[in-house]
Amino acid sequence: MYDNIPQFEVLPQHIGFIMDGNGRWAKMRGLERSAGHKEGAKTFRKICEYCADVGIKHMTFYAFSTENWSRPQKEVSALMKLFKEYLLEGDERTAENDIKQMRLKFIGEREGLPKDLLRLIERAEKTTAKYSHVTVNIALNYGGRAEITHAVKEIAQKVKDGELSVDDISQETVDNYIYTAGQPDPDIIVRPSGEFRLSNFLTWQSAYSEFWFSDVLWPDFTEEDVNEILFDYQKRNRRFGGV
Ligand code: FPP
Repeated sequence: MYDNIPQFEVLPQHIGFIMDGNGRWAKMRGLERSAGHKEGAKTFRKICEYCADVGIKHMTFYAFSTENWSRPQKEVSALMKLFKEYLLEGDERTAENDIKQMRLKFIGEREGLPKDLLRLIERAEKTTAKYSHVTVNIALNYGGRAEITHAVKEIAQKVKDGELSVDDISQETVDNYIYTAGQPDPDIIVRPSGEFRLSNFLTWQSAYSEFWFSDVLWPDFTEEDVNEILFDYQKRNRRFGGV
């Protein structure tokens, strides 16, 4: 549990993090790209815990996109290994999840994931399903367009089966079929490492999200950066298309 957490007047309900810059972090140190991802995974744990202690109820971390399979096999394997290691932290994780009431949810396509990883994902989701205080979404084999396509197919099937009429399809219907159904949209999306793109992250959900960019590489991202984001967020005037 962190102490010395500043007092914030308004907190976002949901923050999205694009964990970018691991490769460059490693290159700057003459290390392999996988070393950057390993350090990035440590940052993920730290930021996740800090946000939970601050009182953020929903977080989404972009861990692996549907496009990331095109990376060298060695890098893809190293990333899959990191995800498994995280899920295998078993007892320790359970204790921590118990304390923080943290529910883990993996968003993205299940098909194509290694079987052993899939089993660990299902186990983690099942054991943490009882927690409702904090939801940590890990976007793995995730693509925003793939997510919308998946939702469209499910809705079309309902219409075909006569369970839904075309006239009843609304934005709320789509909300109910995306992976984050039941959760608030991200209030703010954070992209470090000097890039200014969304890269297929939370495409549907980010319609009214605020954005926060910085040059910090993800492995160097700290609790102080989170504080800076939160102080900045509370100054923003969100109008959602109104005046
Ligand atoms: C993008 O940076 C980052 C990724 C493709 C992987 C992110 C995954 C982690 C940090 C591991 C998270 C761990 C768990 C357990 C969820 P990049 O490699 O494209 O960086 P670059 O732009 O500097 O090359």
